[in-house]
Amino acid sequence: MTNRNFVIIGHRAHTVADWKLDDICGGAGRLDVLVRCVTAALWKSHGLRTETDVWLILNGPPRAPITVHFSGEKIRYLNPDERSTAALIRNGLIKYKNENGLVETSPGITMERIGLEQVLRKLPNPVLLSEDGTDSMENANTFILGDDKDPTDEEMQILEEIPKISLGKESLLSSACVTLIHHHLDSHK
Ligand SMILES: C[S@@+](CC[C@H](N)C(=O)[O-])C[C@H]1O[C@@H](n2cnc3c(N)ncnc32)[C@H](O)[C@@H]1O
Repeated sequence: MTNRNFVIIGHRAHTVADWKLDDICGGAGRLDVLVRCVTAALWKSHGLRTETDVWLILNGPPRAPITVHFSGEKIRYLNPDERSTAALIRNGLIKYKNENGLVETSPGITMERIGLEQVLRKLPNPVLLSEDGTDSMENANTFILGDDKDPTDEEMQILEEIPKISLGKESLLSSACVTLIHHHLDSHK
């Protein structure tokens, strides 16, 4: 398991491929936010961050949740544009349609019918990114973010005990937060 994990909660992201690649902001349930985070988390200027993993929690209709895990070490066929990352998820959902267990839908991408609570059990030292956070980022290995919405009250119950860290009072795009966290961790290597 890697020591740099980003978990993004996709509150409306669809769990079947009932959307078109031209409509990832609308019909797919703001999948654009999630794929932008994948690009920010896994891409450097000329290559991939092999020590980073991304976990997208799809909590939208019709059968939530599905978690999509991108392994920076194992990923193949990932490009820096949003559309092709969305295509990897779309093709994965088509393959995964009638599955329940863990399935590798493409090299380095797995899908599983698990949600936030089960994902957190797998990952080291989690923290929640929140504008109001007052805790320290020190020793954190797993960074949890909302999509265009903050975590729901139900999700906050699951996240109650974990530290909350802030990147300032301004509410930023989730993908911008990912870049700032990488910058912080890279500077303190
Ligand atoms: C676009 S924001 C969510 C919506 C926003 N909080 C609002 O209601 O306007 C996406 C996510 O990025 C993270 N985030 C945004 N700004 C942040 C900040 N200044 N510090 C820490 N996390 C932040 C949080 O996890 C948040 O749920």
